[in-house]
Amino acid sequence: RYLNGPGNSTAKPRSQLAFAFDIDGVLLRGKDPLPAAKEALSILDGNNKFGLKIPFILLTNGGGVSEEERCRKLSSQLGVQIHSDQFIQSHTVLKSIVHNYVDVPVLILGGQGDTLRRVAEGYGFRKAYTTLDILNWNPSIWPFHNLTQEERASVRPADFSKIQFGAIFVFHDPRNWALDTQIMCDVIQGSIGGSHETNHTRKPVDLVFCNPDLIWQSDFEAPRMGQGAFRVAFQAVFQSLTGSTYPYIQFGKPTEATYNFAEVMLKHRLQGIPKSSLYMVGDNPESDIAGANTAGWKSILVHTGVYDPHRGPPSHQPTHQAGDVSEAVRWALEQEF
Ligand code: G3P
Ligand code: MG
Repeated sequence: RYLNGPGNSTAKPRSQLAFAFDIDGVLLRGKDPLPAAKEALSILDGNNKFGLKIPFILLTNGGGVSEEERCRKLSSQLGVQIHSDQFIQSHTVLKSIVHNYVDVPVLILGGQGDTLRRVAEGYGFRKAYTTLDILNWNPSIWPFHNLTQEERASVRPADFSKIQFGAIFVFHDPRNWALDTQIMCDVIQGSIGGSHETNHTRKPVDLVFCNPDLIWQSDFEAPRMGQGAFRVAFQAVFQSLTGSTYPYIQFGKPTEATYNFAEVMLKHRLQGIPKSSLYMVGDNPESDIAGANTAGWKSILVHTGVYDPHRGPPSHQPTHQAGDVSEAVRWALEQEF
């Protein structure tokens, strides 16, 4: 299952397998690493029976900061160097479509203040605005929130009566669902950024979500609501207001777009390893297991996150189940060596 050195059966083999690790519920619970995480990464760093370094990538529906910033934090949390070329988070895939929106006014949702505006500008968006910018322009848009001093420092002044948005990107999990839902409805319906008389000629606003997770595993014992829950809430409100839901594009695990993007972006690190020897280790059958199975990767479901084996079989059948990420790595090595 792997290439030996030239005619020498004892030479160190070249790895013919690689791993894609989910983060929340597999490597971390909240900001703390799971005990098995450091053990698993140590095995991949050469502490295995061949002394072989085995390549791995991180593939998360998390987000909210730049890839470089998240990798710096992950390196500190996990005790190994994580490079941004082995890391894909929910909104990284937007780098592949930003060329369509470079000079288009876009609304960026999620995270704190204007951190994500700076991430979006790092991707190439040149007219990125936040819902706080809009509230700062006209506080009567949502009378139930007064900008904090910190939020006021993050806004970009603009006259939104003259700005026609081309798209709304939900990069990460919104913090103020009510404010963001109100402004999304206003932008889509033309109450903000588009005069009413052009209602019929106005180009529809693209709506893009980057993470479909209804729930995810943080450090509270029960799973938390994720960006998918926000999408359900928004669509329910929009449907009540207009009679129908609003069409949207979905990125993030388990979408094929995200797994295809992962394969293209990371192939240099995976050194031509076949997809059938790429092991996705995840805690959420709906995202990690479903996506890996569709992509033709192997999938290992661990019991340290969203999935609870006491509640019956998983909604998507993994290649294997393991108690934690270290057991998962050990099992996969047994299959390939
Ligand atoms: O916001 C993060 C959450 O939705 C899931 O993250 O690492 O389990 O894909 P992860
Ligand atoms: Mg997870």
